[in-house]
Amino acid sequence: MFLNDSLKIFSGTSNPALAGAVCKYLGIPIGGAKITRFPDGEKMIRIEDDVRGRDCFVLQSTCQPVDEHLMELLIYLDCLRRASAKRITAVVPYFGYARQDRKDEGRVPITAKLVANIIVTAGADRVLGIDLHAHQLQGFFDIPVDHLTGELVLSRYFRDKKIDKLTVVSPDVGNIKTAARYASHLGGELAIIHKRRLSGDHVKADELIGQVEDRNILMCDDIIATAGTVCSAAELVKQRGAKKVYVGATHGVFVGQALERLKAAPIDEVVATDTIPLNEDAQKLKKIKVLSADAMLGEAIKRIHRDESVSSLFGRGG
Ligand code: R5P
Repeated sequence: MFLNDSLKIFSGTSNPALAGAVCKYLGIPIGGAKITRFPDGEKMIRIEDDVRGRDCFVLQSTCQPVDEHLMELLIYLDCLRRASAKRITAVVPYFGYARQDRKDEGRVPITAKLVANIIVTAGADRVLGIDLHAHQLQGFFDIPVDHLTGELVLSRYFRDKKIDKLTVVSPDVGNIKTAARYASHLGGELAIIHKRRLSGDHVKADELIGQVEDRNILMCDDIIATAGTVCSAAELVKQRGAKKVYVGATHGVFVGQALERLKAAPIDEVVATDTIPLNEDAQKLKKIKVLSADAMLGEAIKRIHRDESVSSLFGRGG
């Protein structure tokens, strides 16, 4: 697309396929770096390209193993700063720890804020993220944050499916605004579920506001982790007479009992983006489909590099 030696994109080990696809979109080679380990397990990164005075991006999802990927990102940032990069952007398609964003009981940390602090301390000048779980997370960083959304990728896919009698369901109250945007883009009605979290991996969909009987359902969420939220919501809408149930989520974390639950749930299709690579078991589950966020990230990186507006492209952000 455009070749410019002043732009460099490096990849951590969490999602090299997405980093490669972004570079392909931009028509540039991936930045050279060697990631090795010392015998005691410590990581070592050596940048192999000249980065002095360059605009550098490091793509790393802090997905499982979360702490290892986070540490690798921090080492990368430090490495680029000490190699005299002009500007360093941490591209974090999936931001682990995002859900620990508030102190809602005594003696607990706000780990999302801690992680934001250490990313800045390590050397990031900017952050580029996708669906950081809550908009206010942008404020945890005292540097510019461009906040993209998987909605752009997912809503295009569901629009092309031309689902008739569509009701977009928010599987919890935290997601209502997103669901309302989907409903407005796709021309559907809106319904809302009130869920109760019984434990870290158990939720119960309690109440439903809106019409789902004889309707096709699109359930949208930012994250599917143990899949308790979407599976419990799918059960409820089916009990109330829904026809097909589609699920769209930006981040397919798929941990714990997620795959067994999704397999057994009355869900026809689960669509996620590739912010996190699918593990082998998830790849075998036919109802899971993955759409790439490569073009969206590539376009945002190009615009950041050229000092052009990102929010005008994606409808929100800084
Ligand atoms: C909650 O606030 C999020 O938007 C997701 O609904 C939740 O994190 C999904 O978790 P799980 O798949 O484990 O229910």
